[in-house]
Amino acid sequence: MLSDLEQQLADLKQAAVEAIAACEDLQKLEELRIAYLGKKGQLPKVLGGMGKLDPSDRPRIGAVANEVKSAISTALDDTKSALQHAQIQAKLEAETLDVTMPGVYRPQGRTHPLNSTFDRAIDIFVGLGYTVAAGPEMETDYYNFEALNTPPDHPARDMQDTFYLPDGNLLRTHTSSVQIRYMEKNDPPIRIVAPGRCYRRDTVDATHAAVFHQMELLAVDEGLTFTDLKGTVKEFLTQMFGEVDIRFRASYFPFTEPSAEVDVQWNGKWLEVLGCGMVDPNVLKAVGYDPEVYTGFAAGFGIERFAMVLHQIDDIRRFYSSDLRFLRQF
Ligand code: DAH
Repeated sequence: MLSDLEQQLADLKQAAVEAIAACEDLQKLEELRIAYLGKKGQLPKVLGGMGKLDPSDRPRIGAVANEVKSAISTALDDTKSALQHAQIQAKLEAETLDVTMPGVYRPQGRTHPLNSTFDRAIDIFVGLGYTVAAGPEMETDYYNFEALNTPPDHPARDMQDTFYLPDGNLLRTHTSSVQIRYMEKNDPPIRIVAPGRCYRRDTVDATHAAVFHQMELLAVDEGLTFTDLKGTVKEFLTQMFGEVDIRFRASYFPFTEPSAEVDVQWNGKWLEVLGCGMVDPNVLKAVGYDPEVYTGFAAGFGIERFAMVLHQIDDIRRFYSSDLRFLRQF
């Protein structure tokens, strides 16, 4: 016959082992441990009755109590390690990193050949002490023509027909307009380059586009001469192209006197890449400079043509067609 106490211990053991096996949470498992084995837990409570036992029964009951305690401890340990294992497993699954998976493809962009040509030209001029200036693509007749010594009836306007806006403004035909805008706001000495987009009503062919890019060069100071212009242009072209054949040709622009054009060898022929000259005294007067004190030289380069010579490109239209087979080569 089991004593009362033995029955209580057996019941406690069964209840405890079942509750522990059913536990699914480490926090609750710790609560169960305290509830059964803790100082004020159920096992110590049952054992509190040991004092009333007949001394001859004590060793037997004590042994049962130990067995119950170790059964509960084992159940706690087993469940604890099972729960911990499950927790790690869940974490591993949630945070899986498969290093053999293909990466996320991000297409790598490149600098468009026109922009890299701009960058290269700007680098050279910055090295020569120039700074970069900018002006609007939509211009007034004054900045694009008149202040550049090109009044409304001037025949040179024929070569620079452009897109006129209803309000009388126009899309600039060259970056030379930036010369005027910059000189109006600054005093000599001036050394600037002005990169930008230009527009002309031109018939498009292998070397002409209706929208194209130029870089303007302007230096104004006391005592500047044609020699300074020639030296600067030569230095620039040499840094740009290395040992390429170039030639200066006498030319005409309303805003320079004297004027010249410079050609570079391309596809076995001469390709005009820039116009230049000594700033016309009328242009200096238009911005309030005294032409008796100051002289200046200026030039305008076609960026497309520079890029065509640099990369041996056969047709200007390739720059604008967004053909990746072309663009990926740069
Ligand atoms: N603006 C001229 C053009 O687009 C190029 C040019 C020639 C610019 C002579 C200049 C210059 O600054 O001095 O055809």
